[in-house]
Amino acid sequence: MDEDNKLSRKTVLKAALAAGVVAPVALVGGPALARTTVASGKTPELTPECHDGDAPTIAQTEGPYFKPNSPERTSLVTPGTQGTRLTVSGFVFGLACQPIARALLDFWQADVNGNYDNSGYTFRGHQYTDDQGRFSLSTIVPGLYPGRTRHIHVKVQAPGKPILTTQLYFPNEPRNNTDTIFDPRLLMDVRDAGQGKEAAFDFVLNVRQTPTSTSRPTTSNPTTSNPPTSTSNPPGGTTWAAGTGYSAGVRVTYSGRGYVCLQAHTAQPGWEPPNTPALWRAE
Ligand SMILES: [Fe+2]
Repeated sequence: MDEDNKLSRKTVLKAALAAGVVAPVALVGGPALARTTVASGKTPELTPECHDGDAPTIAQTEGPYFKPNSPERTSLVTPGTQGTRLTVSGFVFGLACQPIARALLDFWQADVNGNYDNSGYTFRGHQYTDDQGRFSLSTIVPGLYPGRTRHIHVKVQAPGKPILTTQLYFPNEPRNNTDTIFDPRLLMDVRDAGQGKEAAFDFVLNVRQTPTSTSRPTTSNPTTSNPPTSTSNPPGGTTWAAGTGYSAGVRVTYSGRGYVCLQAHTAQPGWEPPNTPALWRAE
């Protein structure tokens, strides 16, 4: 029954996209938000990866499409920012439909003219989900550039887990039909809101969780099953330790390797330097 629903939904969505017609918002606005799966108790569908390698950046550890060391902020908009205001909000869930607190989301996108900022951090920023696994980003609708449909890049990572690199898409965009890496599973649910737009998207990460009888989030980190084990690290400077406040520029060692802190933060289990490119750069 669930499969049938999925199939028919997908079929309608595909047909609507192909025909460019306006289908009911619930269908064309994007895949069902994962929060509805949470409510039904079914297994959620994982958020797929999506790479294009086009967003120019410093080609270091993360390849040509990502610039590390983005500022921590939930708004990419400043008083002079041009473009249609857009709020993107939603949840980050794990495999058992439980929200993931303190998940890292690192967003980057083009400006209204379709350009990326390579020298600075305009339209780049990272944030963490709150205790309910919720995030919210204030930005603008990104401009188009040759060869791609409209999109927002994002890296999402549960504490201590692998990074999901993907993109979010807008419904009813003509180029969705011709962009070869467009994926309808990554469509946001977008609606008009005054002069701007509001979009919703829920991420589902491949993170094992212990199912519980309730879907209420916990206030503690749900993925603390691998506490740091490197507290006996050796020589040459401070060893990274959870609970320590680090400021930008500070150097630590972790598992015998040196790292420089990129963002002031308080370390916590799961945010070991090798796992957090927004916070630490390997030396
Ligand atoms: Fe891009």
